[in-house]
Amino acid sequence: MRVRIVSVVGTRPQLIKAAALSPALRARHVDLFVDTGQHYDAAMAGSFFAELSLPPPDVSLAVGSGTHAEQTARMLRGVEEVLERERPAAVLVYGDTNSTLAGTLAAVKLGLPVAHVEAGLRSFDRSMPEEINRLVSDHLSSWRFAPTPTAVANLAAEGLREGVELVGDLMQDLAARLSPEVRDPGVLVATPAGPLEPGRYLFATIHRAENREPAAVRAWCRLLSEVARPDRPVVLALHPGTRAAMDRVEASPGPDVRITEPLGYRTSLALQLHAAAVLTDSGGVQREAAWLRVPCLVLRRTTEWIEAVKASAGRMAVIGLDASAARLELERLAPMASTPAMAAERAASLDLQPAGAAEAITAALDR
Ligand code: UD1
Ligand code: UDP
Repeated sequence: MRVRIVSVVGTRPQLIKAAALSPALRARHVDLFVDTGQHYDAAMAGSFFAELSLPPPDVSLAVGSGTHAEQTARMLRGVEEVLERERPAAVLVYGDTNSTLAGTLAAVKLGLPVAHVEAGLRSFDRSMPEEINRLVSDHLSSWRFAPTPTAVANLAAEGLREGVELVGDLMQDLAARLSPEVRDPGVLVATPAGPLEPGRYLFATIHRAENREPAAVRAWCRLLSEVARPDRPVVLALHPGTRAAMDRVEASPGPDVRITEPLGYRTSLALQLHAAAVLTDSGGVQREAAWLRVPCLVLRRTTEWIEAVKASAGRMAVIGLDASAARLELERLAPMASTPAMAAERAASLDLQPAGAAEAITAALDR
C-alpha cells in the first residue's frame, strides 16, 4: 500500500543518507521532505541537493544555528505544524542530530509513529549531544532500523526489541553507488586543496563538539602540525563551526595543513580513497574510510562503529588527540615510502558493494 511519509532532515550527513534512501522510498511511497535548515551554508547543505539529485524540500524551516534549546525549539514548532497539516502514516528521522530529536518529539506528541534510521548506536558518553538525541529517538520510535549487530545488541540491552530490524548501513549503499566515479586518480589533478598525488597527502575532517573546546582545538592543531610534511601535507576539509572555534582561540595547524571549505560528497570520497591515511572524528568518514580500506585514525576516545574498526583489519586506530600515538600509528599503517603504492593498489582493486539498507528499510515500512 502506498502511504504518506514525512522525512525530517537538516544536516549534511542527513542529506547524504536521504539521497541513499529516497529513490527506493519514493518508488513505493509518497515521501514529503522537510528540511529543518540546521545546516544552511551552500557547502554544508544546498550543494548536496544538486550533486546527489535529491528532490527539493517540500518544506524548508530555515531554523539555522543557536543553542541546543533554541535550535530544537524552532524545529519542534516548525515540524509540528507540518505534521498537523499532513498527518502522515509515519515520520522518518535519520541519525542523531537535533533535527532527529525534533522530528521524533514532534511526531510522537501528535501520536504519529516514528521510523529511526541508524538506531542503536551508543558511545556510552552522555556528554555528547548525539548520545542524548539517540537515546530519545530510539526509545520513542516504532521502527528501529539498526545498521550493525552491535546496535541491535545495544537496543536489546535497553529492553528495546520490538520494531528492531538489522538493515545494514545506508551510507554504504551510496558510497558503493558513487565510489566507482572517483576511482581514477585523475580526480586529484584539480582539487580544492590544489593538485595532489595518490598516497602523498593525509585527509582530515574535525567537527565534534568536544573537539571545538579551546584545549582540544589547540591539541588537534598540534597533532596535525606534527604529522603534516611539505611532501605529505594534510588536507583539512573544515566544518564552519570548527573554523569558528579555531578563530576564537587563534589556533593554526601550520603551513603544511591545507585548509579547504567543506567539500562535495564525491570529492570527500575521492580524497579519502587516494589518501595515505584519513584522520577524522566524523562517524560517516570513519565508516567510509573502512569501506574504502584506507588507514584511519579516529580523533576521539571512543567510537560507536565497532564493526568498522573490526572490518578495517587493524587499519583503524582510535587515538583521541594524542599526537605521539598519531605519529606511531601513521608509521605503522601508512609508512611514507609505501603509501603511493598502497593507494594505487586500493583504487585499482576497489569493489565496494551496497549493504542493501535502502531496500530493507523500504520493505519493512511496506509491512
Ligand atoms: C551537527 C550534529 C552532529 C553531526 C554534524 C554533521 C547536533 C547536536 N550535532 O553538528 O551530530 O555530526 O551536524 O556535520 O545536531 N554552522 C555554520 N553553517 C552551517 C552549519 C553550521 O556556520 O551551515 C556553524 C554555526 O556556527 C553553528 C555551528 O556550526 O553554531 C554548529 O552547527 P550545529 O548545526 O549546531 O551542529 P554541528 O556541529 O554542525
Ligand atoms: N563529507 C563531505 N564533505 C566534507 C566532509 C564530509 O561530503 O567536506 C561527507 C562524508 O564523506 C560523509 C558525511 O559527509 O559522507 C559525514 O558527515 P559529517 O562528518 O558532517 O557528520 P557525521 O557523519 O559525523 O555525523
